[in-house]
Amino acid sequence: MTLQASDRLVIFGITGDLAKKMTLPSLYRLERRGMLTTPIVTVAFNDWTHEQLIQHAEDSILAVEGPMDKAVFARLADRLTYISGDFKDPALYAKISAALRGAVAPTFYLEIPPGLFVSVAEQLSNAKLLGGDARIVFEKPFGTSYETACALTDTLHGFMREDQIFRLDHYLGKEPVLDLLYLRFGNTMFEPTWNNHYVDSIMITMAEDFGVDDRGSFYDAVGTIRDVVQNHLLQVLALTTMEVPVADMATPRLDIFKAMPNADIRHVVCGQYEGYKDIEGVAPDSKTETFVAMELFINSWRWSGVPIFIRAGKCLPVKATEVVIRMKRLRPIFINGRMREARWHDDIVLRLGSNPGVSLTVRVKTPGEDAVEPVQLGVDFKKVLGEVPEPYELLLTSAMAGDKNFFPDENTVEETWRIVQPLIDDDSEPLPYKPGTWGPRPAMDMTASHGGWRVPSP
Ligand code: BG6
Repeated sequence: MTLQASDRLVIFGITGDLAKKMTLPSLYRLERRGMLTTPIVTVAFNDWTHEQLIQHAEDSILAVEGPMDKAVFARLADRLTYISGDFKDPALYAKISAALRGAVAPTFYLEIPPGLFVSVAEQLSNAKLLGGDARIVFEKPFGTSYETACALTDTLHGFMREDQIFRLDHYLGKEPVLDLLYLRFGNTMFEPTWNNHYVDSIMITMAEDFGVDDRGSFYDAVGTIRDVVQNHLLQVLALTTMEVPVADMATPRLDIFKAMPNADIRHVVCGQYEGYKDIEGVAPDSKTETFVAMELFINSWRWSGVPIFIRAGKCLPVKATEVVIRMKRLRPIFINGRMREARWHDDIVLRLGSNPGVSLTVRVKTPGEDAVEPVQLGVDFKKVLGEVPEPYELLLTSAMAGDKNFFPDENTVEETWRIVQPLIDDDSEPLPYKPGTWGPRPAMDMTASHGGWRVPSP
């Protein structure tokens, strides 16, 4: 059963970093597109006035969006109210309850430390704010392991129904990530070849050319596997490989995870960049990985035998996220009775980062010679499609509409934790690597028999 559309948005943690960089700019963009229709109640610990909130909203939006349309901002400012208080104090929820009088389907969005998720849900429930079609959107991370994710769901079920729980992963709101499905299922040249008859391997890279910087204490407790693999990159993998969605998008994604065996530590390389241990908040003897490369498998009819390589890390040479579908090598080309060896694999590259687009390797004749060589055919989405909505625009409006297609559900979250759990349990030292390189050497060697990793374009 689908929840009815929300009549209020309540944001916990509006003074935090995520709200500043993502949520407030996304609300402005939604207002500009005419997509906001309800009042927005914002909540945080800071003892701010309404004017301080509006000033903070304006500064945050300006920093991300540049010069604003004043009329649009005025409309957004009119929607915003601010309530301050301690998230564990029932008095705060009495104030929220008063602000929500008459609402039947509020959306509570929690962009707060995960350690507070249960307290806030419990207080909302005690204040009778989780009745009917109310829902809570939980920012990532949802759990820190298979066991804690299951336990968190069980605890939340004491206060609310599963259909009221929205677990957010902002990668599922990224237009280029969702575009994977349209490319695959909308193009005759891709769809028939997207399987183990034609695909040699799949390689997913999420590279960041910056370090952990001021997030030392957060990151040291998390590491790359929990931070971006269990969630973002496994979701990208699911969209790259799932069957065509029939009734909803969650079921075929879940089927992919169910077909994946647990990660095997013998096929994983963890790294830590040199200098990481000197960062404030990082333990001097930290074993936290800032880089990981792994080989996974999907035991399904379509994908069995195709290795899936995933690598992600901080302090790598570029900032780029991409999926490479490496096609099997063709037999040598015979033209005029002469054989021309194809020494390379053909790649379909889907860029998902700040320079979204697609490129394909195609073979052409070397001009003036009786030989063949690869060239790239490419499209830059920004040039041809213009500005696209940001992830939080799609995700906030979907949650408010009661649409769960873009959210990992209970089973998905549990399956993805199951897949990476052996890596979380492994206590080995990560291998050191120099900042600005592609991680430890064994990670580079991992894909050697499949043509090596592709160097992503930034
Ligand atoms: C976040 C991680 O979830 O995703 C960060 O906590 C990471 O460590 C970020 O940098 C990457 O997101 P994006 O949208 O910039 O690719």
